[in-house]
Amino acid sequence: STNEPLKVMISGAPASGKGTQCELIVQKFGLVHISTGDLLRAEVSSGTEIGNKAKEFMNSGRLVPDEIVTAMVTVRLSRQDAKEKGWLLDGYPRSFAQAQSLEELNIRPDIYIVLDVPDEILIDRCVGRRLDPVTGKIYHLKNFPPESEEIKARLVTRADDTEEKVKSRLEIYKQNAAAISSTYSSITNKIDGNRPKEIIFKDIDSLLSQLLKDKTEKSMKP
Ligand code: AP5
Repeated sequence: STNEPLKVMISGAPASGKGTQCELIVQKFGLVHISTGDLLRAEVSSGTEIGNKAKEFMNSGRLVPDEIVTAMVTVRLSRQDAKEKGWLLDGYPRSFAQAQSLEELNIRPDIYIVLDVPDEILIDRCVGRRLDPVTGKIYHLKNFPPESEEIKARLVTRADDTEEKVKSRLEIYKQNAAAISSTYSSITNKIDGNRPKEIIFKDIDSLLSQLLKDKTEKSMKP
């Protein structure tokens, strides 16, 4: 069809569940998931120039300089798959300057989703989080334990998931949140992220399905 694909941004504090919801969104809507955190972690583990620059910022819970991240994201967004299938931007923009960079390039999402979770819950989610380096899946020791001993044995902890670093990541998030959301206020949907993940996804699913329907109807008008 000639339908314009969906363009989605998902935002929220550290451990608000962005990555977890993105797994579900990708499964259903087939969007290209662009997570700046994942892209940066991949650069760090392959020891690239970007990775070496980003590492100290990430490990201390600070933001990586805008120019590094913006270059990475705009390259990824311009690839053919993102243009054809649509995109799901996770963890970007994270500063007012980053939001402005996208505006200047005329890159605008159809919807800006914000996952809302109380602070005290976020700390526990970070400290209990484990990642599977083989599948990329996100686990939590209590909330989503691994399915087998084999998986359990290979899980890794992120260097920035200590209580102290989570607190500073949260501070930085709060300092930037208002400036970013002002850019997207007309398309913002705040969602209660402190519920079971399937229930949260139901809300997101109906928002995205409605958007798709609107786009299809619009494209059928003469
Ligand atoms: P990034 O990887 O983006 O980290 P973050 O924003 O802190 O988000 P997280 O990945 O911690 O959490 P999430 O919301 O995805 O939650 P998840 O689904 O995993 O960025 C890392 C670093 O990279 C930054 O600090 C910065 O240095 C750098 N960076 C990235 N983007 C940048 C940018 N644009 N500019 C500059 N620097 C940048 O869930 C968390 C846990 O909770 C999991 O264990 C999960 O199983 C569990 N969980 C999820 N949902 C639920 C639920 N509904 N109920 C119970 N438990 C749940």
